Amino acid sequence: MTCTGTVWQPGLMNLRADHHGVAADPARFGCRIVDGHLQIEDVDLRVLAKEVGTPTYVYGLAHIEAQYRGLAKAVGQRPTSICYAVKANSSQAVLKLLGGLGAGADIVSVGEMHRAMAAGIEPARIVFSGVGKRDDEIDAAIEAGVRSINVESEEELERVAARARRSTRPVNVSLRVNPDVDPATHPYLATGLRESKFGIPMTLARKVAKRAIDLEGVELVGIACHIGSQITEASPYLDSVARLRGLLAEIAEDGGKLRQLDLGGGMSIPYAPEDAVFDVESWGRAVVEVTKDLPMELVLEPGRYLVGNAGVLLTRVINTKRGEDKGFVIVDAAMNDLLRPALYQARHTIVPVAIEAALSVEEETVDLVGPVCECGDFLAENRRSPRLSTDDLVAVLSAGAYGMTMASTYNTRALPAEVVVRGDQWSVTRPRRPIAELIAEESVPGWV
Ligand code: LLP
Repeated sequence: MTCTGTVWQPGLMNLRADHHGVAADPARFGCRIVDGHLQIEDVDLRVLAKEVGTPTYVYGLAHIEAQYRGLAKAVGQRPTSICYAVKANSSQAVLKLLGGLGAGADIVSVGEMHRAMAAGIEPARIVFSGVGKRDDEIDAAIEAGVRSINVESEEELERVAARARRSTRPVNVSLRVNPDVDPATHPYLATGLRESKFGIPMTLARKVAKRAIDLEGVELVGIACHIGSQITEASPYLDSVARLRGLLAEIAEDGGKLRQLDLGGGMSIPYAPEDAVFDVESWGRAVVEVTKDLPMELVLEPGRYLVGNAGVLLTRVINTKRGEDKGFVIVDAAMNDLLRPALYQARHTIVPVAIEAALSVEEETVDLVGPVCECGDFLAENRRSPRLSTDDLVAVLSAGAYGMTMASTYNTRALPAEVVVRGDQWSVTRPRRPIAELIAEESVPGWV
């Protein structure tokens, strides 16, 4: 298993501080620089910090819209449904925007189904993935009438069919297979390898498909795969199609009439100024080319690509501290707010909001850390940074995907607030909850 790209390089020190690269090309991170300060669209992050406080996630809707339209155009030559992976960012405002642009949803729980439906995405545009679906979740998806349930094993197929026979609704299933393709990404993000828990092994897929064709209660409508996340090249997708071709032919031979081929999500975003931007046009051309003879709709399940660089996590420096060997900048966002650095050594670019003035400030190598009581609580390690001081505002970039959705209240810290921006308009879409509310959720029995 290889880890490539600049995203996953734990402990590696970058020699040039990131704010130079961001100042040269803020748009790739969904930002603008006006009066020397970072903005999301026309909204000054200083204003948001003052009005809403920190830590706060800020999402610019124009970037999401541009990413969606770019992807849709790239595959526009063939029938395609873009089913947004809700797990990346399940903000109702984001879902409503994407649903309005024509996106469906890829969900992995009934909670996500309800979120998507609450934002106006009809069940007929929702695909239900996930390696473990409870009976009550299967029932709810059948009841709602989702587009397809992507089953991940023969056992699950039997369970879905049994639940389907108790309902009057037709139930479409897709088989999520595991094409054993190496997406060349972080090991935690590679889901299409033989040893991963996801999907039906290729060696069993024909047999399971036959069973699905014969089974009463379900209709086999497609094949699905999702090989991993943060994939920078087209080739793993092309490899998947190549591996699935034989299976598609076998299923046709066995009498199956497939309507959809779901290639999952996984398209990458740049996290560092030096990372390449995913070439969606040539990716689209290549995918359209290798699927042009397949008489079925293509389904895509992008998450990160649509929302990742639409969002920043706005945080404030609490204080700085000199350790024996290095300096620490302690900010008010922590691993509970953005887990990716702690969990995957993910590299997020972090810059001062007063970015222009920082260009002439002395640089140092520091760890940017949160206040949580864990050694793993860092946002960046050994990072070149302009010298920061107490109360400075700092933006953690590329935080629109898998930021808020993976946040927790560890250390009894309230979840961050969320703000969406469009042009010069902004709105708090999820306020920071008072700690008293977190405590009030619980009850204590009298016998304690
Ligand atoms: N479809 C399925 C079946 C998935 O499991 C996923 C992501 C996606 C689509 C969307 O993948 P994307 O386009 O966003 O790469 N928490 C990790 C990422 C985990 C991805 C899990 N599955 C992170 O922060 O990088």
